[in-house]
Amino acid sequence: MEGDPRDVTALYVALTALFSGLVIHKLAKNKVKIENASLWGLQSLMLLELFCYFVFPALLGAIIFIVACALYYVALPVREMLPTPGKTVLVTGCDSGFGHALAKYLDEQGVLVFAGVLDKNGPGAVELRRFCSSKLCLIQLDVTNSGEIEAAYQEINRQVQDSGLWGIVHNAGILGYAADGELLPVSFYKQSMEVNFFGVVGVTRMFLPLLRRSRGRLVAMCSLAGDCPIPGFAAYAATKAALSMFSAVMRQDLLKWGVKVSTIHPSGFKTNIFGSQEYLSSQTQKILESITPDVREDYGDDYLVALKDLHHEMFTTSSSDLSPVLEDVFHALLARHPHPSYSPGRFAYFIPCLFRYFPSWVYDTFSKKTFNYHRTILPKSLRISNNNNKTD
Ligand SMILES: NC(=O)c1ccc[n+]([C@@H]2O[C@H](COP(=O)([O-])OP(=O)(O)OC[C@H]3O[C@@H](n4cnc5c(N)ncnc54)[C@H](OP(=O)(O)O)[C@@H]3O)[C@@H](O)[C@H]2O)c1
Repeated sequence: MEGDPRDVTALYVALTALFSGLVIHKLAKNKVKIENASLWGLQSLMLLELFCYFVFPALLGAIIFIVACALYYVALPVREMLPTPGKTVLVTGCDSGFGHALAKYLDEQGVLVFAGVLDKNGPGAVELRRFCSSKLCLIQLDVTNSGEIEAAYQEINRQVQDSGLWGIVHNAGILGYAADGELLPVSFYKQSMEVNFFGVVGVTRMFLPLLRRSRGRLVAMCSLAGDCPIPGFAAYAATKAALSMFSAVMRQDLLKWGVKVSTIHPSGFKTNIFGSQEYLSSQTQKILESITPDVREDYGDDYLVALKDLHHEMFTTSSSDLSPVLEDVFHALLARHPHPSYSPGRFAYFIPCLFRYFPSWVYDTFSKKTFNYHRTILPKSLRISNNNNKTD
């Protein structure tokens, strides 16, 4: 065994065959798909095998390879999914964006979807009726309206009866308007909180008896913005941070009932959340009307009007492929062992880590470069004082 590595060729072939057989058996037994992470692991193992075969002394190489295979087999992260037939899920905010795409996706997977919509006769609802199976049920549901929450509960309770509701996806949400926290009227903060936080609390409280009955799943659509500070997001981020902590506490509270709670923290995706030009213009007008003459003078009208360009820039730099979010929500709803939180999208995991584990100046420098957007325009009085400093 200590001589030419080719003396142990038969051993390597046998080990490879045995290991492959064990992995295939584990996957087949659990009726599971192999995840991307595991495929990377498999490729690394093949490279390690070549390295062990050609570089290490024969016995040492074989031992290292056997240990690596054993570790891989034990840690193989398999996606063990529950069967979808018979599973009923309420998704809020299905008129557009993630909720709309999710309703279609779950319906295609055979889940019985209760799709909450703000407008049962709106284009989003019409499209769902046209595209989805007859099993999908549209539910009129403004999450800020306690009457509609109660009516939705009665309707769903009547349909699911004793089996309970398997899952709720708290997706409905608004970004409102992104601008310096000082400029946002208090009414903007309240409205965001009303939809993104109190809406979730209201729906959760009403539907939990159904979820406890099925020992089901609660999934909350949080945001990267709720995990780390992004300039201009004072109102929105505060609601998502509140939602994140609410969900984390509910996860603890509901453990004893067998209900599992997960949060999704996406980065930027192209949806309707960034608002139409009409909506943004009306919000700019409300800001202009709410600020004092002093504040208006300090910021300057050109800065205030340019604020709405931020939304357009965020939209253009966001990803148009919503599938990472849909797959993570699906996993949270139907994996035998869902994760407590998911971070779909570009840098969605990296940016909060940078904020949490590095000195604040590192994060601030990164944030200034990454989220600068329209801030190439300075408020009027800062421009004047900068010019004065230059001429002094
Ligand atoms: N897109 C992103 O980059 C991103 C990133 C992180 C987190 N999120 C979160 O993902 C969720 C979905 O947003 P989205 O990006 O898909 O935006 P979207 O296209 O605007 O979808 C939000 C949905 O919620 C609905 N909605 C608004 N107010 C509601 C209310 N009071 N009751 C019920 N439904 C209401 C909207 O209806 P209308 O269409 O009629 O307004 C819309 O259908 C939100 O919670 C958002 O905060 C989004």
